[in-house]
Amino acid sequence: MLFKTSPIIEAIIQESVTHSFAYRYDMCVCPACKSAVVRHAMAAVHSAKDAVDAENSEAATRQVRADNNFAINNAILHAIEHVSEHPPHAQTEDRSKTFKLLLQKILQERGLDFRNYHVNLLKRRFAIRIKANNLFSYTEYMKLLDRYPLEYDRLFETLCINVSEFFRDPPLWVTMQYLFERMISEKAARQDHTLTVWSAGCANGEEPYSLAISVSEAARAHAKTIHAKIIATDIDKGALVTAQKAQYPLESIKNVNDKLLSKYFIIVEKTGQTDTPQNGIYRVREAVTSMVSFSQLDLITGDFPKGIDLVLCRNVFIYFKRELQEQILRKFFEAIRPGGYLCLGQSESMLTEVRKLFEDTDSNARIYRRP
Ligand SMILES: C[S@@+](CC[C@H](N)C(=O)[O-])C[C@H]1O[C@@H](n2cnc3c(N)ncnc32)[C@H](O)[C@@H]1O
Repeated sequence: MLFKTSPIIEAIIQESVTHSFAYRYDMCVCPACKSAVVRHAMAAVHSAKDAVDAENSEAATRQVRADNNFAINNAILHAIEHVSEHPPHAQTEDRSKTFKLLLQKILQERGLDFRNYHVNLLKRRFAIRIKANNLFSYTEYMKLLDRYPLEYDRLFETLCINVSEFFRDPPLWVTMQYLFERMISEKAARQDHTLTVWSAGCANGEEPYSLAISVSEAARAHAKTIHAKIIATDIDKGALVTAQKAQYPLESIKNVNDKLLSKYFIIVEKTGQTDTPQNGIYRVREAVTSMVSFSQLDLITGDFPKGIDLVLCRNVFIYFKRELQEQILRKFFEAIRPGGYLCLGQSESMLTEVRKLFEDTDSNARIYRRP
């Protein structure tokens, strides 16, 4: 059966442009710009064949794609560049300027400073909210924030990705247990029975509660009494509210073994089959929650607590540009007491500029000690 190539190429271009638009936040993605991109790309692709012989339309599309893949991709890239420079309407905004204005507005109105976060990460996150509201520009989005201030909450939820789980990166927690045992023994020898740990960027509470459980287990293993206090902070108020409820689905506690599960959690809501472990909602027991105190703190602008034995700041630096990471690592150094520790996430590393301040305790586990 013969299929004309031109409509097939147009359909391929349409689909590819839709995907490209989903990843481009530095240009106008309105319908007029989209059809201009398709038109320009179509004009640039000249297939060697007017028609292809294939069994059905899917096979014809595969054939046309294989014959013209490079030309189509190239044409789309050029068309996007061309249309961003010459949009089919008056330039509604200078996107790099309005992006900065949006950050400025959030700082002025909500006191949160995202200016030193990674730009591409922010643009992708803003785009999610801009699209969810069927808008096309930062300017329109700023107007929406004025009309519906509740949108700030949705935006912050999207910007602050609160994904976490109990005992995230399980191998770390084996090391953590040894570290707590060592700290508790050293403190006992000095007649010091207090331990202060800070979970900086605690999301929905999984990390600070894991710390409280781990300290409790370490103290029990050595039959030692320790008054442990876990300070848990995050920029996101919504996450802190969830954290204080201390209730989690099975998915969040998948790294908790059965022994710890029955000792430190109660099942409050059962769903589905009554197999083991049961599906449902688990609440952290009071013995654990009472060790943790939550408060809002922006690591960029906030005052850090002092005299901390161990700081965990994991999977938070991914948001920050290098200079900001350095600034925060120096503030952690000041927050940690001499002989105390800092633990970073698996995707994060100690910057060379700050490394000399700390000793490596376990570089695989990303644990560093203030001498
Ligand atoms: C992916 S979660 C990490 C949770 C936990 N530490 C872990 O590793 O599982 C990142 C958290 O960093 C918080 N965050 C982002 N920017 C922050 C800032 N400037 N100050 C404090 N917390 C921030 C987010 O709100 C989010 O809850």
